[in-house]
Amino acid sequence: MKKIFTRSVPKEGRVYQSKINGQLELNWHKGKLMLDTKNVNYSYGALQSALAEGFIHIGKKKVRNFNNILVLGMGAGSVIETLRKKFKNEGKITAIEIDPVVVDIAKKYFKVDAFSQLEIVVADAFAFVKENKSNYDFILVDLFIDRETPQKFSSPEFLENLVNLIAAQGTILFNTVNIENEFTRRNEQMISFFEKSCAVEVLKEIEGGNDLILIKKK
Ligand SMILES: C[S@@+](CC[C@H](N)C(=O)[O-])C[C@H]1O[C@@H](n2cnc3c(N)ncnc32)[C@H](O)[C@@H]1O
Repeated sequence: MKKIFTRSVPKEGRVYQSKINGQLELNWHKGKLMLDTKNVNYSYGALQSALAEGFIHIGKKKVRNFNNILVLGMGAGSVIETLRKKFKNEGKITAIEIDPVVVDIAKKYFKVDAFSQLEIVVADAFAFVKENKSNYDFILVDLFIDRETPQKFSSPEFLENLVNLIAAQGTILFNTVNIENEFTRRNEQMISFFEKSCAVEVLKEIEGGNDLILIKKK
């Protein structure tokens, strides 16, 4: 008899190896499937709740009306679910993800490509932001390799390209994990950079360890 292919994840979870992210784990928590790395939650767990708090701060009506959204760091796409289901947003979403293993997991186990108006681009967010000339009214920066955001994403070159992509009155939500002095310094430098052309607000220690930097173009 032909073997039936099953996409279900056993109770004890499932582990994948990726050249980019190292160990990727599918784990169950309170009946919900999540994507984790060896050390942190990537999608559909505390991370999803932290980003939802950021959206509530931006304002439900404003989030619902975002027309053109850029997600840098798609992971398994929990923020896309939040936008579509919790905030009833129907705008176009372009999601950038560097790791093809993560994209496969997002499609296979989290059905990310069932969301309408979603374009998934497998690319380095640094290069995408440099080469892209579109305008977005919302950009999420959620770029991590395990527990750290690669240093290039706090460089003046990246930050400048990022600000150039945001439309007038648009919003950037920059997710950071502020766990050590080095990261505190990095965040302070980024905030000083953004303050030159934007209004900046920081939501501290959301869901335990995330500092969300909210940047609004003046
Ligand atoms: C915390 S997860 C993103 C979670 C996602 N925003 C969500 O809502 O579920 C971080 C993601 O950033 C991706 N990433 C890291 N460096 C990247 C880069 N240079 N370009 C694009 N994606 C990158 C990782 O592969 C990982 O999937």
